[in-house]
Amino acid sequence: MAILIDGKKISTDIKDELKVEVAKYKEQGIKITMAVVKVGEDPASAVYVRNKQKACEYIGIDSVAYELPEETSEEELLELIDKLNKDDVINGILVQLPLPKHMNEDIILDAIDSKKDVDGFHPNNVGKMMVGKETFLPCTPAGIVELLKRTNIELEGKECVVIGRSNIVGKPMSMLMLKENCTVTICHSRTKDLKEVARRADILIVAIGKPKFVTADFVKDGATVIDVGIHRMENGKLCGDVDFEQVEPKAYAITPVPGGVGPMTVTMLMANCLRSVELQNR
Ligand code: GUN
Repeated sequence: MAILIDGKKISTDIKDELKVEVAKYKEQGIKITMAVVKVGEDPASAVYVRNKQKACEYIGIDSVAYELPEETSEEELLELIDKLNKDDVINGILVQLPLPKHMNEDIILDAIDSKKDVDGFHPNNVGKMMVGKETFLPCTPAGIVELLKRTNIELEGKECVVIGRSNIVGKPMSMLMLKENCTVTICHSRTKDLKEVARRADILIVAIGKPKFVTADFVKDGATVIDVGIHRMENGKLCGDVDFEQVEPKAYAITPVPGGVGPMTVTMLMANCLRSVELQNR
């Protein structure tokens, strides 16, 4: 039986560590506040935003929610971001993605003050991460590194294959694993012989966005498998990008869905809120 990488437990451990840090800031009279902006009625976004607010409450960070209607113009959203950028009370700004189709996500993300960019999506911060400077790290990839380290999975010198090349997960994930001294391959839906490439992996990270895409024949015996996907099946249950039943018996360690990567994303956002205070006070 594979080791089950318990994202729920690890994320609670980290949140408890952060809670202590937040309390120390409070003793020094420093309060931490994050603005969470949601535009439109995407049901998944509503759940994510609620989870982010709950996590803030748990560790003692104030959150201010802005829930804007679907028909909000790009200009109106930019005005709100400008106001939040200038507001000294606000340490972190998060704009939940996806945005409505009439908005250009790049323009919106670029407008967020890079010192308040708790998602780590601003090009300045992406560039800093790329060259290994201290900055906000994107939450899902940073959470995966934490999961691996806290499960004592050795990373140095290992073959890591990342399936997926999104700006939010695949690309930054590859950079962070490179920083951990893995040999990294990024592949995607157009990769030739994807199964063969995936089978090279000691650590296989799957963020392709297709339910149960990775079956047993993608996985080397004894590999560690990290599943970033989350999908609702017809029977109402959740599943990931990995076919857990098939892959688990072959793996050394594996993340479940739910309860694997998901809780870590929110927790690393909290870590970034704390980092925002450090970065702003420099
Ligand atoms: N939508 C899906 N994942 C994320 C995330 O990590 N941050 C934001 N802002 N939106 C998302």
